[in-house]
Amino acid sequence: MFVLVNLKTYPCDPVDVAEAVRDVDETTDARLAVAPQAAHLERVAETGAETWAQHVDPIDYGSNTGHTLAETVAEAGATGTLINHSEHRQKLADLDGAVRAARRADLETVVCANNPAQIGAAAALGPDAVAVEPPELIGTGTPVSQADPDVVEDAVEAARNVDRNASVLCGAGISTGDDVVAAADLGAEGVLLASGVAKADDPEAALEDLVAPL
Ligand code: G3P
Repeated sequence: MFVLVNLKTYPCDPVDVAEAVRDVDETTDARLAVAPQAAHLERVAETGAETWAQHVDPIDYGSNTGHTLAETVAEAGATGTLINHSEHRQKLADLDGAVRAARRADLETVVCANNPAQIGAAAALGPDAVAVEPPELIGTGTPVSQADPDVVEDAVEAARNVDRNASVLCGAGISTGDDVVAAADLGAEGVLLASGVAKADDPEAALEDLVAPL
């Protein structure tokens, strides 16, 4: 299972969380990675934790003030990027451009989507993985894998109808090992989570709990 921890703009110490991700990754067969804010990428990557960006824009080098260039993210040490997170939606054409930009910079991609229909569209863009996250469950602590199992199963089916090898993650409210196991049982190959780790008093203990049953 892939456990991808998105730090959003939570007021946690990104280096502390990254060190916990790195240390727990060494104790498990699961794959752990952390996605800090763009300004923290370099410091986080220096910890040795697998580091992802939260977003890249569909741009190339040039006149793009305020945008995030995939190559710069890669130079800062990221090896992958989220695209189209529910809190940073892109239009379809821009989403396609962002996947292409990430690929150009050799970044692995996870394209997020709200529901199975959007997952099918996202999978058609050829990312490395897609992630279904019902927005109404994000940040609630109510796990999608237990509260809305159909959305995960339907997302897996929608993605596999487009690409039979599609890799599907799920996210929203995931915070325990049981939630991760439930996600795996529904066909997800990973989970995307944030508050369960970024807002935890002890992020390392939260991560240990997440991977314990794997
Ligand atoms: O990117 C992960 C995310 O949107 C889920 O957030 O806080 O429900 O784990 P959370």
